[in-house]
Amino acid sequence: MTVRSYAKINLGLRLLRKRPDGYHDLETVFHRIEMHDELSFRLTDGTVSLETDRKDLPTDSSNLCIKAAEYMRSRAPAGSGVAMRLRKGIPIGAGLGGGSSDAATVLLALNDLWSVKASADQLKSDALRLGSDVPFFLSEGSAAATGRGDLLEVLPVEMPYWIVVAVPPVAVSTAWAYANVRLRSVAPSVSLKEVMTRSLRDWKVLRSQLTNDFESTVIASHPAIGKAKQHLLDGGALVALMSGSGSAVFGLFAEEPAALAVSADFETQGYVVSVTAPGFSPPVPHILTTETDP
Ligand code: C5P
Repeated sequence: MTVRSYAKINLGLRLLRKRPDGYHDLETVFHRIEMHDELSFRLTDGTVSLETDRKDLPTDSSNLCIKAAEYMRSRAPAGSGVAMRLRKGIPIGAGLGGGSSDAATVLLALNDLWSVKASADQLKSDALRLGSDVPFFLSEGSAAATGRGDLLEVLPVEMPYWIVVAVPPVAVSTAWAYANVRLRSVAPSVSLKEVMTRSLRDWKVLRSQLTNDFESTVIASHPAIGKAKQHLLDGGALVALMSGSGSAVFGLFAEEPAALAVSADFETQGYVVSVTAPGFSPPVPHILTTETDP
C-alpha cells in the first residue's frame, strides 16, 4: 500500500501558558497543504523496518514511524510485520508536521493492513503519545486546536486563497523554541476559530489577527525566516506568517499568478517551496495504491 502523508500549516498560533506537565497550552488552527511525504507498506513476517531517502533521519525506534508501527503491532495478530519505505517531500524541522503526519499515517495504514480494528479513541491516544500534533493528522479537514494541540474541533475552512509555503534552509528545534519563547500575558478576546469562521474572506482582519507567538523569538535567531516572510509580502501575499515553530513561512494570495511568481523566485534561491490551490482538502488516508506484496 502506498499512501500520501500531507503537511500542515498553523493559521495562527497562540501560546497561552506553561502547564504542570511541562507542555504548553496553545490555540491554533491546523490546515493541510499540498506538500507531502509518501509512505509504502509491504507486509512481512514478524519484523518492522523502515527505509528512507533522507540520510539524516534515523530508521531505528527513535523514528516516529517505527514507534507508531510498534504501538499497532502490540495489538495486531502474532507474526504481523511490515517493511516501510518513506519518501520525504516535507522538510524536517520546518514546523510543517512532517514527522507527525507520517506517524498518523502509519497508525491508520497498519490498523487497516493488520486488521487491528483499533477504536478511534485508541488511535487518538496512541497518536498523542507519539506527539502533540499527531492526533490532527488522523482526520480529514482543518481543525481548531487547544490544549497541547490535541483538543480538536473540526473546522470547515473553505480556503479561498492560494497558499505558498517556503522553507528557508534552517531547521528549528521545537523543544528549543518552546524553551526560549516569551509567553503572552493576556489571552486575545477573539478566538482563532472565530476569526477563521467569521473573517476568512476579509484579509485585512486576517492580517491583523493571525499571529504566531513563536515568530519574534525564532526570527531573532534565524533572520532568514524574517526575510522569507517579507519576501512573501513584497510578492503580494495578503497575509504572511511562520508555521509552527518554524522555519517554514506561508503566504496567502488572492491570485494564482502572484503565488506562482513568488514561489518560482524562492525556488531559484534554493528554498523548498509548495503551492496549494484554494479549496484543497485531500482524503485521509490518501491511498495511492493498495498493493502490499513484496
Ligand atoms: O509533543 P511533541 O513531542 O511534539 O513536543 C515536542 C516538545 O515541544 C515537547 O517536549 C515540549 O517541550 C514542547 N511542547 C510544549 N507544548 C506543546 C507541544 C510541545 O511545550 N503543546
